[in-house]
Amino acid sequence: MKITIVKEKLSAEKRVAASPETVKKLAALGADVFVVTGAGLGAAMTDDMYRAAGAQVVSEDEAYNNADVFLRVRHPAADEIAKMKKGALMIGILSPYQEKDLLKAYAAQGITAMAMELVPRITRAQTMDVLSSQANLAGYRAVLDAANEFGRCYPLMMTAAGTVPPAKVFIMGVGVAGLQAIATARRLGAQVSATDVRPAVREQVQSLGATFVMVENEETKAAETSGGYAKEMSDDYKQKQAVLIAETIKKQDIVITTALIPGRKAPVLVTEEMVKSMKTGSVIVDMAVEQGGNCALSKPGQVVEAGGVKIVGHLNIPSRIAVDASALYARNLLSFITPLMDKETKSLKINWEDEIVKATTLTRDGAIVHPNFI
Ligand code: NAI
Repeated sequence: MKITIVKEKLSAEKRVAASPETVKKLAALGADVFVVTGAGLGAAMTDDMYRAAGAQVVSEDEAYNNADVFLRVRHPAADEIAKMKKGALMIGILSPYQEKDLLKAYAAQGITAMAMELVPRITRAQTMDVLSSQANLAGYRAVLDAANEFGRCYPLMMTAAGTVPPAKVFIMGVGVAGLQAIATARRLGAQVSATDVRPAVREQVQSLGATFVMVENEETKAAETSGGYAKEMSDDYKQKQAVLIAETIKKQDIVITTALIPGRKAPVLVTEEMVKSMKTGSVIVDMAVEQGGNCALSKPGQVVEAGGVKIVGHLNIPSRIAVDASALYARNLLSFITPLMDKETKSLKINWEDEIVKATTLTRDGAIVHPNFI
């Protein structure tokens, strides 16, 4: 079985889908691993490191020739799809909701496409959970990105020249990214508070040494889906929440927003008025900018300034910490593909009835098969 590790085509994507460690393990499972030359350079993984791990480093054309499996980070470009053989398996973070036309192209080419972000959050799949592995690092990185734009420091410092007060950091949305942002800001010595619509996170926030603020009422008892995700809240709730946020936000130095609702536009939590109420020199990092943004003034891919407040809208935050993000993503992929491989016959042996396989398979045998996209 020939597995190809592609070189990512999307601009500013520095991550890679395999590390030397996972290449070694894929080879031990019986695969011949091919890495496109330079594929890992954005993540400090050189061709030599892949060779030493047992891969063959080849040109892109050679890599596409007859490969059975393609491991990648993001979705392919049209010319890459055209090069894949019928029946090939492609696994990556394929953004199926945003890239619906590509699904048709995969089906037309006869590719089996599996989307890692659709791995269900069940216990057996925890090691395959790319949303968690990448959001965790992104939450950490967002705190550092804020520090970069902030003209002050996080911790309380008592010096001979006087005392520097600690920064006040407010985290909005306490999922995986938000929890890591809280932990990171705390480690750096900030005074941290956080909010969410799911009351269940109160204890997690407090256990990290942060203060929890939220509008809690009858509605929030049902704000969490069975999968642990947030639901969209009513207009009445949004109004009450806006009052609380407005009160809280004007006292903050740094606000990091991470609030998402699966399959929908991100909720706007920080209005233009709220931005204007903040002190000059404050910083907002909008981690939801790719899903429409939690801050009304954030701009995708830009750092903008409004009334003396910097609003950071970096895209693809995991790629800004590409070495660790790649290493974790590569392990997620290894965990995902291992049960799909038969060590004896050194070929793919996929149980199409398996819960994880069913949840992630987008296209197969020339058709779109995932119920969410048919
Ligand atoms: P996410 O990325 O979908 O959303 C981020 C956060 O924003 C969530 O905490 C959400 O409640 C919050 N949010 C949404 N709308 C909001 C609003 N209007 N105001 C304030 N906050 C708002 O969440 P993520 O990180 O994917 O986590 C979702 C759930 O999945 C959590 O309950 C987490 O514990 C759970 N999880 C379970 C795993 C498992 O393997 N069982 C693994 C990882 C996460």
